[in-house]
Amino acid sequence: MQPFQLERYFARYEFNVKHLLCASDCESLSLAELLAQAPPALLRRWETLRLGYTESQGDPDLRAAIAAAYTTISGDDVLVAAPEELIFLLMHCLLRPGDEVIAIAPAYQSLHEVAEEIGATVRRWPVRAVDGQWRLDLDELAAMIGVHTRLLVVNFPHNPTGYLPTAAEFAAIVALADRYGVRVFCDEMYRGLEYDAAERLPSICDAYPSGIALSGLSKVHALPGLRIGWLALHDPALLAAMQALKDYTTICNSAPSELLALMALGMEEPIIARNLAIIAGNREAAAALCARHPALLSWLAPRAGSVAFPQWRGPLSVDELCERLVSEEGVLLAPASLFGADGGHFRFGLGRHGFEAGLDRIEAWLEQIPA
Ligand SMILES: Cc1ncc(COP(=O)(O)O)c(C=O)c1O
Repeated sequence: MQPFQLERYFARYEFNVKHLLCASDCESLSLAELLAQAPPALLRRWETLRLGYTESQGDPDLRAAIAAAYTTISGDDVLVAAPEELIFLLMHCLLRPGDEVIAIAPAYQSLHEVAEEIGATVRRWPVRAVDGQWRLDLDELAAMIGVHTRLLVVNFPHNPTGYLPTAAEFAAIVALADRYGVRVFCDEMYRGLEYDAAERLPSICDAYPSGIALSGLSKVHALPGLRIGWLALHDPALLAAMQALKDYTTICNSAPSELLALMALGMEEPIIARNLAIIAGNREAAAALCARHPALLSWLAPRAGSVAFPQWRGPLSVDELCERLVSEEGVLLAPASLFGADGGHFRFGLGRHGFEAGLDRIEAWLEQIPA
């Protein structure tokens, strides 16, 4: 497989850079914060928890709590594992060499890479900046999709742009897939972080019987270190195949992570409110920085999620910009090339504390570069 460029970039910088301004997760919660809010029954379980192997599909109570957030899903329709692992398991169980896949682009690399490594042909369906807004062109999808399409891969809310289709656009995507009997895999890792709650889309697994939803605790719940995510789908045979393949990856999940995940689902509302408040403050500060330097930066407003993908319009390439900012100012941004994109874009991560101190370093640097 090709190296996962974004993850290799983070491996190099994430734990030694002063201002990490491109992380996609929200400021992590601490163990103490979770335990302080947990109900007594779960705290008792925590204190007596045995550190053994767990059920490979995922703890039944956790699966039931996950299923409760969907309208058509039961605990039996859920497979729990690390989100990244689930992308790997799903693609390996679903795709064969020569299969045709349509996938949103730019993208978190594994959404393309795993399919390509299997030998599938991945056709990119681009999210584009049109009149200062991110857009997907449904006519382009209509021209690409057909009975030969094995899988449509989307990611709403989208990383790295923060794009979110309207409910009508989402319904049109589902209708197109349905017309040709195409499965839809929707990466919903950022679902729940809509800035206007009324814009939240239904999960693909509730909207479409052949829809497969990926979600997890890494972004929306600020708990990436638990390594807990899930797939929700109406396909017991596919779920069983993925569970069997999981015997070759992790076998089962960590018992402490599963119990902490159960606690987190019980306090989802305040966690999301806290994360949205951090994102709102950082979003405003990032937009204001762009507005103060219109010749150099162009803001493209995200509608949901914890990332934004503005455009650099200055004299250097965006890769050079990022290299110079990290070496001269200790500020890490993620250039478009890490998402298989170009156009001078870079990713801001909006979910962390300390964001504005990093923006100040960027602004000081911008003010001293030659016009
Ligand atoms: C769109 C998307 N999908 C999946 C993942 C993988 O999540 P995790 O790192 O928790 O495995 C990420 C992580 O950044 C992501 O942004």
